[in-house]
Amino acid sequence: MYNVKKLTKDLYWVGANDRRIALFESVYPVPTGVSYNSYLLLDEKTVLLDTVDKSVNHQFMENVEHVLAGKPLDYLVINHMEPDHCAEIPTIIAKYPNIKIVCNLKIQTMIKQFFDFEMPEDRYIIVKEGDTLNTGKHTLTFVFAPMVHWPEVMVTYDTTDKILFSADAFGAFGAIDGNIFADEVDYDLRYMDEARRYYTNIVGKYGPQVQALLKKAAGLEINMICPLHGYVWRKDIAKFIEKYDKWSSYTPEINSVLIAYASVYGGTQNAAEILAGKLSELEVKDIKMYDVSTVHPSYIVADAFKYSHIVFASTTYNNGIFVNMENLLHDIVAHNLQNRKIAIIENGSWAPVAGKLMKSLVEQLKNTEIFESNLCFKSALKADKYTELENLATEIVKSMKGE
Ligand code: FEO
Repeated sequence: MYNVKKLTKDLYWVGANDRRIALFESVYPVPTGVSYNSYLLLDEKTVLLDTVDKSVNHQFMENVEHVLAGKPLDYLVINHMEPDHCAEIPTIIAKYPNIKIVCNLKIQTMIKQFFDFEMPEDRYIIVKEGDTLNTGKHTLTFVFAPMVHWPEVMVTYDTTDKILFSADAFGAFGAIDGNIFADEVDYDLRYMDEARRYYTNIVGKYGPQVQALLKKAAGLEINMICPLHGYVWRKDIAKFIEKYDKWSSYTPEINSVLIAYASVYGGTQNAAEILAGKLSELEVKDIKMYDVSTVHPSYIVADAFKYSHIVFASTTYNNGIFVNMENLLHDIVAHNLQNRKIAIIENGSWAPVAGKLMKSLVEQLKNTEIFESNLCFKSALKADKYTELENLATEIVKSMKGE
């Protein structure tokens, strides 16, 4: 049975939720599922904006057919060719054989890479930056957004109703729970962390490209943002754009300390716990700790984008960094994190080397300061190192105060 949501008098959400998916992109846990958003505009001409993942194809097709109610589908606008959005292009083409595909040249190339269907060239409308498509009452403008988060990406702006179809930008992990608008849920409480985890892990590497898109968006009056995942925005848009500005400029959201530790038998955890306690005694608020062995790195990457100061504490393992910590650090470097203050703690029962190796990874982060004191201990923290740990807490707090 169809399950559609009316967004304006002539615009409908025709997407669907996948609540059973274990790993989004085969990498990221999504315990609250994910939505694949597609939008259908009923104007003199009818326009479908993007499709969905193949996992929800049945619901999607029922939705499209219901909203069209027998009308032909004139245009399919494709903003992004990642298969979580483009998988149902062949189904749409087969069902509506006279449809025209509206896309840019890179998208057309990717269509031919992914699919085998035959489509005469004159049924493609290839757009360039700033081109428009009039559908009757509405005029759609196409704005290119390369690397947000693939090279072919564009966003579509409905100049009539001031609606931005933003592709992956402004999306979030998490299925849509009945409501469709972000202002209908307690977004800060329930979704902001997942929006951050989605942004930082999926698009985080491409901050400069997101900044470029934000600059283009700043020139548009926007009444509604329709992303490809998560809730639709019609209120507090500026607040969410401000978050994107922070994330994409690698600006910390809070002046506090994130501690990520790797511990096999508890010695390194003990040092991390004591450090956290010392920071608290020094009145640091909102300290966050993660055991890298029990938490998926995507959660820690997200908080690394949030916190100003990060402590990585790891035991030495196979004469290297403990494997989960090594993966996390590679992930953080790959996501291009910048502008942080980082402290390193190393442990090792006979030949501690994790610290030097961790330092060589985090040194790759731009505009990032690494605390000089590299606390090193063997097996378990003892009295001789306790003062060093206290000093590290003091140094971190001084840095937080800009001293
Ligand atoms: Fe949701 Fe880049 O695809």
